[in-house]
Amino acid sequence: VDRLTFDVQVTNAQAATIFMEDVHAGMVSSRKFLLPKYFYDADGSELFEKITELPEYYPSRVETKLLASIVDDLVARIQPKEIVELGSGSSSKTQLLLNASQSSLKRYIPLDVSSSIVNSTAKRLLSKYPQLSIHAIIGDFEQHLAMIPPSIGRRTVLFLGSTLGNLNETSRLNLLQEIRKIVVPGDCVLLGVDLVKEVRILEEAYNDSQGVTAAFNRNILAVINKNLQADFQLEMFRHNAFYNEERSRIEMHLISQGNQTVRIKGLNLDVLFRPEESIWTESSYKFTRDAVENMLAHADLPLVQWYTDSEAQFGIAVASPE
Ligand code: SAH
Ligand code: TRP
Repeated sequence: VDRLTFDVQVTNAQAATIFMEDVHAGMVSSRKFLLPKYFYDADGSELFEKITELPEYYPSRVETKLLASIVDDLVARIQPKEIVELGSGSSSKTQLLLNASQSSLKRYIPLDVSSSIVNSTAKRLLSKYPQLSIHAIIGDFEQHLAMIPPSIGRRTVLFLGSTLGNLNETSRLNLLQEIRKIVVPGDCVLLGVDLVKEVRILEEAYNDSQGVTAAFNRNILAVINKNLQADFQLEMFRHNAFYNEERSRIEMHLISQGNQTVRIKGLNLDVLFRPEESIWTESSYKFTRDAVENMLAHADLPLVQWYTDSEAQFGIAVASPE
């Protein structure tokens, strides 16, 4: 269909090289780490969808409800002609916006690293919204915002799910400055952020009773096994997620159960693990309204509207350049 463009930003060979470099850097570091974008192969994207349905994982539920309650008001003001979405995944919350903006909306531009989920989502949306063109971009939102096509007018940039919170402070600011370059006055940025709250609620959200989050965390090792012929034994790494109050972030780690050596054939590397040694796989920063307003202001994206649910669990910021 010519209503669908599928833009892949990196060749498989380039992606393989970058993956090798990133895994190598993380495994030889004195504090081992892996980059969270590597969670999301086809299995990882499916596991993430399961996370969003867990009773403990309130952010998806609360953000969806909040968005549903404000979407008519939002769309009446913004009347978006096109929506660019970073880390679009299954675009399930996005559909609230797509439904409400049917009269003005011409184009949807999802950008995500996970080709499997973007592919199936784009097909579903094409048949559901016969007036809509979709320009899907498979790429890294930290690297490929410049590949987004020129605006056709009244652009809204969506960044939901508190995915911005998975970046550290420097990377967050860089990304917001890159976002600033793809919007003009009259456009807007919608940012979904998880808020600071009681530690118990935060920690339960990343330690669900069914072990789905643990499986998601360990899946990053399966991705390395598959792509770099490594022999990580997944059950030899314990999922550990806790709130670091000083830094306002959940940290996710994989903890080695005992002494072990992992062979990563594709890197010609043996990795030694001490008992209880950790691989840091992700952070999820938690925000306050003031912190969000400040970080947006630093990127020259003034906050124009702030929405939150009745319990102030989750926030949606609307920013617009002047
Ligand atoms: N927006 C959806 C999905 C959030 S999960 C929601 O709110 O439910 C995070 C999404 O961002 C996943 O689909 C993942 O594939 C994508 N992602 C993670 N890191 C990325 C990166 N560096 N560049 C592009 N997409 C990324
Ligand atoms: N942006 C989401 C968050 O920080 C991503 C996420 C949710 C996640 N649950 C997770 C990432 C579990 C890793 C593991 O909440």
